[in-house]
Amino acid sequence: MRMVFAGALALSAALSGAPARGADAGDLAEGLRLFTQKGNCQSCHGWAGDGRKMDNQAPDGANLRESQLDRDNMIMTIKCGRPGRGMPAYDRLAYVDARCYGQKKADLKGLTLADPPATLQLREIETLVDFMFAKMVKQGAMDRAKCAAYWGGGDAEVCRELK
Ligand code: HEC
Repeated sequence: MRMVFAGALALSAALSGAPARGADAGDLAEGLRLFTQKGNCQSCHGWAGDGRKMDNQAPDGANLRESQLDRDNMIMTIKCGRPGRGMPAYDRLAYVDARCYGQKKADLKGLTLADPPATLQLREIETLVDFMFAKMVKQGAMDRAKCAAYWGGGDAEVCRELK
């Protein structure tokens, strides 16, 4: 019985393009929601994370699909942002206590720290980063098949412009 269940899980993971291990489909959907909605990363990084920003007024976000950061540094970058470089800090206590590189606001010496649209809890940042590594970072350019899986299957309108 247990084997049959595991087999069914592996099959559904293969069908949805999800990784065999790591985040499950619900976590991936939550990660996508954090990226596109709550964190609004897409305004500067594009919905696919490729740097084609959704908001013309926003700073030019990095191409996250080509990021070389490992998981820990990815988490740190999201928590602490990049002072003076347009990347907001999503940790509520970033530069309030010394959790970000041992620095507080006064240490930033006038470097502007962009405000995040919402702060994120560590658990949310981990879910977001798991999603990013499964669907974005080092996943190559977006194409129609990856796009359908990215949006949880089906025929998402944004995918139609892709090959
Ligand atoms: C207001 C615009 C803006 C928003 C919103 C934003 N970013 Fe950024 N992000 C940037 C900019 C600009 C950079 C490039 C900073 C630099 O030059 O070092 C960047 C850099 C990064 C990097 C470093 C990439 C690398 O390879 O060095 C990561 C990771 C990142 N952003 C993730 C996120 C995530 C995840 C979110 C949402 C939770 C987000 N960003 C929201 C503007 C933004």
